[in-house]
Amino acid sequence: MLNPETKVWLNGEIIAADEARLSHLTHTFHYGLGAFEGIRSYEVRPGVGGVFRLQEHIDRLFASCHLVTITAEDIGATREQIMAACVDTLRVNGLTDGYIRPVIYLGEGAMGIGALTNPTHTMVAAWKWGAYLGEEGLTKGIDACISSYNRPGHSGTLSKGKLAGQYINSILAKREALSNGFHEAILLNEEGLVTEASGENLFIVKDGQVITPPLGLNILAGITRATVMQLATELGIAVVERTFARDELYLADEVFMTGTAAEVTPVRSVDRRRIGQGSRGPITEKLQSLYFDVVQGRSAPHSDWLTPFDV
Ligand SMILES: Cc1ncc(COP(=O)(O)O)c(C=O)c1O
Repeated sequence: MLNPETKVWLNGEIIAADEARLSHLTHTFHYGLGAFEGIRSYEVRPGVGGVFRLQEHIDRLFASCHLVTITAEDIGATREQIMAACVDTLRVNGLTDGYIRPVIYLGEGAMGIGALTNPTHTMVAAWKWGAYLGEEGLTKGIDACISSYNRPGHSGTLSKGKLAGQYINSILAKREALSNGFHEAILLNEEGLVTEASGENLFIVKDGQVITPPLGLNILAGITRATVMQLATELGIAVVERTFARDELYLADEVFMTGTAAEVTPVRSVDRRRIGQGSRGPITEKLQSLYFDVVQGRSAPHSDWLTPFDV
C-alpha cells in the first residue's frame, strides 16, 4: 500500500510517509480514541479526479470528534483546510482514483485514560484501493453470515461516530466471517434486529420496495446509504426505513450492502441461504449502475457531489 514515494499530510504539511512516524506512547494507539473517515475519489476524465461527497465526509469527521469531545479548536484545522488536505494528498501521490483516510488522534502526553491535555493530530493518507469486497463480488454477489458478535448497544457506544476503537467489534465480526468462509458479517443488535455489516450499511429488497434499518438503530449514518436512498427515490423505487430481523433478511428478494469502500455490493447468500436467485438482483443492479455513473462523473444532475481536481 505504502511505497518509499508515498506522502501523507500531517498537521498541515505534506511529508514522506516514512518520516511520519508515531511515538509508541501515542494515546490513541493504546486506547483507540480517534476519529477517521474513508472517502473515495474516482477518475472522472483522463488526469482528472473527483472526490465523492467530500463535504459530507468532513462534516461527519467533525461530528465524530464532537461526539468524543475533541473540539474544532483541538483539531486546529478548519473543515476547508482538511478538505484541501484530502485533495492535496491525492495529488502528491499522483492518484485520480484513490481512497482517502483522514485520521484525527490524540498524541503523546498523559498516559492515563482521560488524556484531557494531550495534543490532537490530524493525518491524511491516500492509496489506490480496488473493490473492497472483490471485483467478482460486485457482479456475482457475496456470501454473508450473521455474526455471533452483536453491535454494541446505545448506552455504551456512540455508533454515529466513525471512531477508531469502536472498530474492534467490526474486526472481530469480520475475522469470524472470513475464517468461516464468508465474505462479510452482518451484525444484529441486542434485540435481534438487523443493524449493518462490519463496514457497510445493509438493504433488503422485497416486493419492489427497498428497505433499510432506520438511523435510530445503532448504525453508522452511511453517506453511501443516503446516496443510494436518494438515487432509488429518483428512479421511482419506494424506500422504507424500518427495522427487521434475520427472517426478513433470509426471505428477501435481494440484499445489498453500501459503503464508500464496498460501493454497492450485492449479497447472494446469508448463512448459506440463497437470496433470490443467488445472484445480483435487478433492483440492486439498477442502483449499482446508477451509483457508478454518479461517482465516476457520468451523471450531470449529480455532478455537484464531486469535487474535481487535476493531477
Ligand atoms: C460500520 C460502518 N457502517 C457503514 C459504513 C458505510 O458508510 P459510508 O457509506 O459513509 O462509507 C461504514 C464505512 O464507513 C462503516 O464502517
